[in-house]
Amino acid sequence: ASAHDFFGAHQAGITTPVQEHLHFASFDMMARTDRDDLVSLLQDWSYAASRITKGLDVSATGAVGGSPEAPPDDTGEAQGLAASSLTITIGFGPTLFETADGVDRYGLAARRPAALQKLPPFLGDDLDPDYNGGDLCIQACADDPQVAVHAIRNLSRIAFGRARLRWSQLGFGRTSRTTTDQSTPRNLFGFKDGTANILSDDQEALDDHVWVSASDGPSWLAGGSYLVARKIAMLIETWDRVRLSEQDGIIGREKGSGAPLSGGTEFTEPDFEATDAAGSPLIPEKSHVRLAHPGFNDGTRILRRGYNYVDGNNDLGRLDAGLFFLSFQRDPEHFVRLQRALSTDTMNEYIRHVGSGIWAVPPGAVPGSYVGAGLFA
Ligand code: HEM
Repeated sequence: ASAHDFFGAHQAGITTPVQEHLHFASFDMMARTDRDDLVSLLQDWSYAASRITKGLDVSATGAVGGSPEAPPDDTGEAQGLAASSLTITIGFGPTLFETADGVDRYGLAARRPAALQKLPPFLGDDLDPDYNGGDLCIQACADDPQVAVHAIRNLSRIAFGRARLRWSQLGFGRTSRTTTDQSTPRNLFGFKDGTANILSDDQEALDDHVWVSASDGPSWLAGGSYLVARKIAMLIETWDRVRLSEQDGIIGREKGSGAPLSGGTEFTEPDFEATDAAGSPLIPEKSHVRLAHPGFNDGTRILRRGYNYVDGNNDLGRLDAGLFFLSFQRDPEHFVRLQRALSTDTMNEYIRHVGSGIWAVPPGAVPGSYVGAGLFA
């Protein structure tokens, strides 16, 4: 298994080849914390992240090298496991920049990106307050689930007294690809997902659609991005009773090959003009890929990086399953635009958006510094 450098121009975990497992966590700063607490937390997180992404313990004394009379620095369950492609991606939520009772808690109000606002409500939202927002987020992705969980567990522990977990999500099975040589995985509807994603070797698309540019502002966010998380429950038992041809029509692609219904192979561009003998479009007008396609959205594209999830089952014996949707975009408005375009998606009968959050993801840190340093400069 490989190791990804924590330091760099951009944070890892965005264009990095999508790993197999996710542990995503949202945090709130604790009451009576100040700017110094926030800075020290980001420094401590960055230091620990730079170690665990190499497959090391969170500190030099680690799990078993410290005093027998003290709890170990590292919880220890990743001992003997490799770095497993772990990436740690840190984001700042809108509430971190807000004043509380007229007090600018962290002195950041003037540095808030204008675009960093709580997402607007969308038609059909069924949001659960238990999976919403947060001052900070950490996306931990790895090819070994225990390595991802070890990361969030230890970073939460390091946050003690400064920030606490607000909500979190485990994900298995990537639902996208970010490199040409990664195969296209499948989501829990059984469809190939990630076919038309933005890939890491497409520098032009990354600059146009993913990275915040210096001219977008604020300057501390240049080279960063905005992360949107949506916990989307999938009514899979209902879906599983839908005829195959209808499933294909809902997505706009063939379940087996992933090819657009207008023909060709997985990577053939969809032809939305193509019709059958009766004159109906081969790719239905309310199919997911048509509604989400850049051609109908003023060229809007996003980098998708979501995961499948199953959180047990309910009393009726139905799986509590879905897609933990994660996307990175240069402007939150790009997600908003696509999500609004999907308001007439025939897939909506089979999904419910239950969780939501948005975070500004600062650029990467240089060695010796920490993620977000530019915000405090
Ligand atoms: C494409 C599934 C939610 C945006 C696709 C594809 C599938 C799929 C199977 C076709 C393969 C591909 O190009 O990746 C799902 C499922 C969802 C979901 C099961 C929810 C459970 C969303 C959401 C958005 C979105 C919330 C954004 C607001 C897109 C985009 C494409 C796409 C931009 C590519 C369209 C194109 O350029 O052809 N999705 N999706 N999807 N989806 Fe979704």
